[in-house]
Amino acid sequence: MKYSEFGLCNTHEMFRNAINKRFAVPAFNAYNMETISAIISAARLTKSPVIIAISESALKYMGDDMLMGMIAGAKITPTEQIALHLDHGVSVESCMHAINIGFSSVMLDFSKRDLSENINATANIVRYAHARDVSVESELGILSGIEDENTQSTESVYTNPDIAQKFVTDTKTNSLAIAIGTSHGAYKRKSANEKLRFDILEQIQAKIPNTPLVLHGASSVPAEYIDTINKFGGDIQNAMGIDTEQLEFAATKTNICKINIDSDLRLAFTAAVRKSLFGAPQNFNPREYIGAARDEIRNMCIFLMRTVFHCANKI
Ligand code: G3H
Ligand code: 13P
Ligand code: ZN
Repeated sequence: MKYSEFGLCNTHEMFRNAINKRFAVPAFNAYNMETISAIISAARLTKSPVIIAISESALKYMGDDMLMGMIAGAKITPTEQIALHLDHGVSVESCMHAINIGFSSVMLDFSKRDLSENINATANIVRYAHARDVSVESELGILSGIEDENTQSTESVYTNPDIAQKFVTDTKTNSLAIAIGTSHGAYKRKSANEKLRFDILEQIQAKIPNTPLVLHGASSVPAEYIDTINKFGGDIQNAMGIDTEQLEFAATKTNICKINIDSDLRLAFTAAVRKSLFGAPQNFNPREYIGAARDEIRNMCIFLMRTVFHCANKI
């Protein structure tokens, strides 16, 4: 089925607006009914464009039919500007598969392959996607941290601005994920002094001024969630994310048009469940503690949309 039959849209218009009006579209990772409905509610309540990001492992967890059934059940309309995006697609085939079941945007992540392999595969999926009016994101450079359940890199390699220019020209990708110091997961920095390399971002922008840029690994890892998790039986030590001032700068002063957040939703979910269960030891009604998680995620998404990404009321 084509994505438009689900009321979804591709990312073209939202990114054009994001560049012109200086905001960023959040890509929140989802993996169940609660995360999907929290993200969509937040977008509706704030009138924000939003990207629902589905990783390969999340797609496997939900199954194609269950995911697309939930998306159909959300009764999305094209005027809402909601995109369904494959996050870190591992192969051209899996991107094609996502497009064929109704995704409106795909990422092919060949960032750890040779440049020529990355260019060829990206150009291939771009041809397939563009013939179906689907957006394509690709990645250059390497983020450190856990990229998915199976891969992790210990070292980051910043995106090279000259290579970015060649890559965009050769592939015609719609957007480019860049490495400027972010990383996946909850352990991004050892000290508050470690800052993102906005100088490299500036050089990349100068080479490809019309290409929407994407920031992966952008969770801020709010201390209140870590404290709540630890207070109610968890044990997460030395976690540190990207401070929201840097994210707000990226969203409003640069060509970063899409900012990816997964870990913060996981933390919000876990904090809410732990707190809810701890406060009611006799409770065994999952709708109560999972409902608390859904509400917490929705509120966090609203906060980020309004005060960090500045995408509220931008439809
Ligand atoms: O960037 C990747 C996401 O954090 C996805 O993680 O594969 O565990 O769903 P996941
Ligand atoms: P975080 O781990 O910082 O939330 O990054 C998510 C991400 O980049 C998903 O693609
Ligand atoms: Zn990512």
